[in-house]
Amino acid sequence: MIEAKSIGKFFSVVNEKGLAEGLTAVLNVSITIPDGKIVSLLGPSGCGKSTFLEILAGLQAPTDGTIHIDGKLVLEPLPATRKEQIAYRRRYRFISPLANGVFRDRPKHDIAMIFQDYAVFPWMTALQNVVFALKLRNAAPSFAVGGAVKLKKREIEDKALYYLHKVGLAASAYKYPSQLSGGMRQRLALARALSVEPKIILMDEPFAAVDALTREKLQDELLRLWDETAGTGNPVTIILVTHDVQEAVYLSDEVVVFSPSPGSIRNRILVSVKRPRARTDAELAEIHERILAMFQYDINQEADYSI
Ligand SMILES: Nc1ncnc2c1ncn2[C@@H]1O[C@H](COP(=O)(O)OP(=O)(O)O)[C@@H](O)[C@H]1O
Ligand SMILES: [Mg+2]
Repeated sequence: MIEAKSIGKFFSVVNEKGLAEGLTAVLNVSITIPDGKIVSLLGPSGCGKSTFLEILAGLQAPTDGTIHIDGKLVLEPLPATRKEQIAYRRRYRFISPLANGVFRDRPKHDIAMIFQDYAVFPWMTALQNVVFALKLRNAAPSFAVGGAVKLKKREIEDKALYYLHKVGLAASAYKYPSQLSGGMRQRLALARALSVEPKIILMDEPFAAVDALTREKLQDELLRLWDETAGTGNPVTIILVTHDVQEAVYLSDEVVVFSPSPGSIRNRILVSVKRPRARTDAELAEIHERILAMFQYDINQEADYSI
């Protein structure tokens, strides 16, 4: 279970006059996500979705609030007062917040992240990309602590091939990302994420760069792979950031609608339509309409301010 409590993120920025300014990217976001669900974070661009997702992943520390995964803290909020700063330095010396997460707070959380761009390493073949992820996971001391068995070289390669096969890339194992189409590259990113058999997969606009038909196919593949893990009794939780209303509604158990910047939760909509779903389902269409109306309202409000 993922529990985010009053998450806030404030960036200090220097403006063109050289003066310090601040920007609140995420404001007071609290949400609890049970295991095995697909949840979409939906909102206009710039509303802090990626920032929130990176905080969930422990790639950024929040300035307010806490994230717990299965009761364990993800990252400590950065110190705000002088007193907190001193205590924080004493505890961590000069290690960065991210490094603290990796080296100090074992065992780490079982998360894989898929980014919108640069999802795979261009200088490695498809197979090498997946093998690399597995080797990293293998080397992490925390997973030995967690009771996971270390894999042998041969086993790593077999596993990588198994997951490439799962996403339909078995024949492209020895190709480089530049030789793959956009959709295939995203499949490779998915294979890499799945290969480490994480409990949680975080995806940041994973299908934004591919054409509409490929996108629908990838969505269905994602659902199929997610459904397979549900059968194993160890269901993976997927949190997906998107600005595509249809994608959010079609895929999710719950759609979390963010407000325009600073990002806070505007509405949470449960989608209880049974799977497999038809894209033309009337209930899905109705939810779609409702969300669009919400966005329309936000846009109109914005226009009013500018008068
Ligand atoms: N490292 C940073 N420093 C300063 N501002 C940032 C930083 N990262 C993001 N922002 C700002 O925070 C806001 C939210 O960004 P982001 O989370 O990327 O939005 P989204 O993913 O919803 O498009 C934006 O206004 C962006 O400019
Ligand atoms: Mg983003």
